[in-house]
Parts: sequence; C-alpha cells; structure tokens
Amino acid sequence: MDKKKIPLILDGDPGHDDAIAWMLAKASQRFEIKAVTSVSGNQTIEKTTYNALRICTLLGIDAPVAMGLPHGLLSEPFDAPSVHGQSGLDGPRLPMPAMELSPLRAPQLMAKVICDSEEKVTIVSTGALTNVAALLTAHPELKENIERISLMGGGLTHGNWTPAAEFNILVDPEAADIVFRSGIELYMAGLDVTEKALLYPEDFQRIRAVGNQVAEVTADWLDFFYRFHRTLGYSGAPLHDPCAVAVLLHPEMFTIKDYHVEIETAGEYSRGATVADMRDFDGVIPNAHCLMDVDRDSFAELIVEAAKAYEGRTVEI
Ligand code: RIB
Ligand code: CA
Repeated sequence: MDKKKIPLILDGDPGHDDAIAWMLAKASQRFEIKAVTSVSGNQTIEKTTYNALRICTLLGIDAPVAMGLPHGLLSEPFDAPSVHGQSGLDGPRLPMPAMELSPLRAPQLMAKVICDSEEKVTIVSTGALTNVAALLTAHPELKENIERISLMGGGLTHGNWTPAAEFNILVDPEAADIVFRSGIELYMAGLDVTEKALLYPEDFQRIRAVGNQVAEVTADWLDFFYRFHRTLGYSGAPLHDPCAVAVLLHPEMFTIKDYHVEIETAGEYSRGATVADMRDFDGVIPNAHCLMDVDRDSFAELIVEAAKAYEGRTVEI
C-alpha cells in the first residue's frame, strides 16, 4: 500500500536554492503540497512572491500561493542581490505565472491549510521565519496540528552574512526565537551541513543531460548560483535549502545531533547567532534536530533523480 502523502507547506524566499528545494519536494511524490508562501530575504517580498508563482508554474505545483510579510518582525528588510541577482532568481527565463496570488496573506493561508487538514502538516521553511512566527503567534492553538518544521537556517559554529549569523536567521532573529521556543519538532539544516551539501559542475552537467525542461532550468539555476560561491573559493554550489527537504525524504543521508538551540537577538556583534548548548548534562533539553553532516554523493544523486521526475513536462516560456 502506498504511503500516505505528507501534507506540506513550502515557505521561502526564492532564491535559487529555494527553487531547487521546491523542485525536489514536488518531484518526490511523497508530499501533498498544500500551500506555497513567500517571505522577504533574498529579494523584496514582491520579487520573491513573483518568483514563487513562476516556479510553481514551471514545476506544476497546484497549490495556493500567498505573499508573506514584507520584512522581519523587528527588522528592516535587506536582500542578497550579490547571490541571487536583482530579480532574486536571475539566470534562466521562466514562465509567466499561470495562477493568481491567493487573497490571503501567508500566515492566514498557513493557518487555513493547517486548520483544514485532517493530517498534521509539515512546514519546510527556507527563508526567514517571519511567516511561521506570525502564524504561531496569531494561532498558538494550531501548534498541535503541525507535525514538524524543517528549516534551513543558522550555523552552530559560524555565520555567513556576519561572522556569527546565517542569513535566514539574521533577516528575522525575533521570528527565529519564537519558532525555536515553540516546542514544535524542528529539523535545523544550518551551515554546518549545508556548506557540505555541495553540487559540483559535473553534477550540473548530469542534471542538464537529463534533458527535460525542468532539468535544463535547474542546471541554469545551479550555474548562476555557483557563480557567486566560486568567487568565495567554493569547489561547488552549497545547496542550503534542499537539505531541509532531503532530510524529510532520507534522514539516513545525514548525521543529526539533538541540541538545545537559542537565538541571539540582542548581541552587538552576534545578533542572529544560533547558540547550541553542547554540554552533556541532564539539565539541557534539546529543541532541535541539528543536521551536522551529509553523504554528499547520495545527496547529489537525489537532486539528479528529482530532475528526471519532470520527463515529458513542458510549459511555455
Ligand atoms: O544562508 C543561506 C540561506 O539564505 C538560503 O536559504 C538562501 O536561499 C538564503 O535565503
Ligand atoms: Ca532561501
């Protein structure tokens, strides 16, 4: 008997690696994607929302898409054009949106989906946690209908946007603090693992050779995304966001440690840091499954295989 599909909400700031995470989620057939919600981060909320609509059109994700909040709960917006370009998803041409935006804002759509679902819902968050925090604050009663939150964010030993903070957490530390205190089961794909989840140019070529439209676009996204990381000395493209999906599909691919993680919201130099208590004594109650390492070859194979799932699908671009 086929396994029941997992009800899923995809929340992100596409973003090249968000787009590839969504490509993986849709391809896996293990999820019923109930909603897609945008958040500001890699680009403005208008741009990440437009990108979300175009990605859903390309991939054939048949779910409502809602615009998220325009900036962090207590933060001014900032973006990352150096990484993702002015559009937030520079590189390949993409289809025009085939669907209208939901009239609901992201936290409202999340709440509706979770409330209406007979099964507990999983949230994959690959941007700032603003929408998720707003959801949990406005509807604390819905926590019991959330199975888990698998998020890309943080780094237990270093940051990337500052020495202490990873981008997604830094965009909205207060939101991250709400989520990490929520008591909901968390999978945290931080830089500790995502900087090891590298796809190399030869992997890009394997994906391109798959030969369908989504594979072609995915290879172009990887080419563009690697352009920035190559300047930093990376030997491949660190696929941050797809880790948050891959761990739901193949946890055995990862080394996972349970830690109690707190979010620094006040530090002059450390705002946005994810501080794990690694001391080994009874008083420490873990609140997150922290991904620390990955079988890179298996991870790369998973992305290549996902691209093959789009055989025969072509949309007008
Ligand atoms: O630090 C990496 C994260 O920031 C990824 O989610 C990337 O898409 C950006 O949002
Ligand atoms: Ca992202």
